[in-house]
Amino acid sequence: MVNLVETSIIIIQKFQSESGAYVASPNFPTYNYCWFRDGAFTAYAMDLYGQTESSRRFHLWASKVILDRKEMILIAIEKARKGLPITIQKQLHTRYTLEGEDGTKDEWPNFQLDGLGTWLWSLQQHKANSNLEIPEDCLEAAKLVADYLSVLWHQPCYDCWEEFPDDIHTHTLAAIYGGLNALSIMDGKDRSGTLKEIQKFVNEQLVYDGFFVKKTHSFTVDASLLGLVVPYGLVAIDDQRFDATLERIENSLRKGGGLHRYPTDTYYGGGEWILLTAWLGWVYASRDDMEKAGELLSWIEKQADTNGNLPEQIPATLNDPNYYQPWLRQWGEIAKPLLWSHAQYLILKKQFQN
Ligand code: BGC
Repeated sequence: MVNLVETSIIIIQKFQSESGAYVASPNFPTYNYCWFRDGAFTAYAMDLYGQTESSRRFHLWASKVILDRKEMILIAIEKARKGLPITIQKQLHTRYTLEGEDGTKDEWPNFQLDGLGTWLWSLQQHKANSNLEIPEDCLEAAKLVADYLSVLWHQPCYDCWEEFPDDIHTHTLAAIYGGLNALSIMDGKDRSGTLKEIQKFVNEQLVYDGFFVKKTHSFTVDASLLGLVVPYGLVAIDDQRFDATLERIENSLRKGGGLHRYPTDTYYGGGEWILLTAWLGWVYASRDDMEKAGELLSWIEKQADTNGNLPEQIPATLNDPNYYQPWLRQWGEIAKPLLWSHAQYLILKKQFQN
């Protein structure tokens, strides 16, 4: 049997490009890019296992992507401050080619803000876990991103599943909150005004009947709500509204061993996601419930193939089986290995070694 920790690290190293970018999944054409979201979690996982060199290379790649677009970002900030719309050409993208270029498909839903917040959080974790100083370039890029997020956080954007562009998403706000907070720890700048506004918005607009909802104009949950507490800390781990949310997530998104994204997800039929199952375990571990965290960990370990590859999702207890074949025909087999799945597995596994 393969050692899944070692294999996960090897897979991540193998698919980190020379440029420092982590490819989301090497065998899945539309995932042949580096996402800020996936990359930030992957870098964090590598930091937890002493792979500082790898995470640093990712952060340098991300900083270069940002600094190469400095003029564009400054214009976007200026426009947002004046309340003017920002055209697609003036937005930061959610994913870039491994060389740091814009993707060729302009129609990709690029206006997603959560990954940028996650990157700021991951950069601060890199500093905390490696005890290394953050290079000036990274800090400059991070501050630009923070200014960008500070003026844009209340604009509707695509969510972390790259859907629903007309709404404001709870997870996105949590990631922005976590990112701005993390940068303030690094650069000492007071961003408490924006942080309080984000928190207020979540408390007033994104709670229904005592639990957090997926997005504005919605009464349902989404597994990404886990991020509210871990790692972004927008709400306290013992918040009763979060308890109620967790109960709903368990009841409506766990029909088998793993966790679904949201009740009506039909991507590949809407299966059980490895990275979300690990995320749920991370939340339980943070609440000192190692028994539940352990159950989730063993389920994930059983999903690895004989070479230790973890996919994006397992086509089990599908939300709607009618959608499985059409996706298979359109895009081929489910992405595997997915680096983000390996990263979240590593993060969960680490909780048992602390
Ligand atoms: C997911 C995103 C993810 C991307 C690359 C998409 O299907 O919805 O959250 O960043 O794949 O892994």
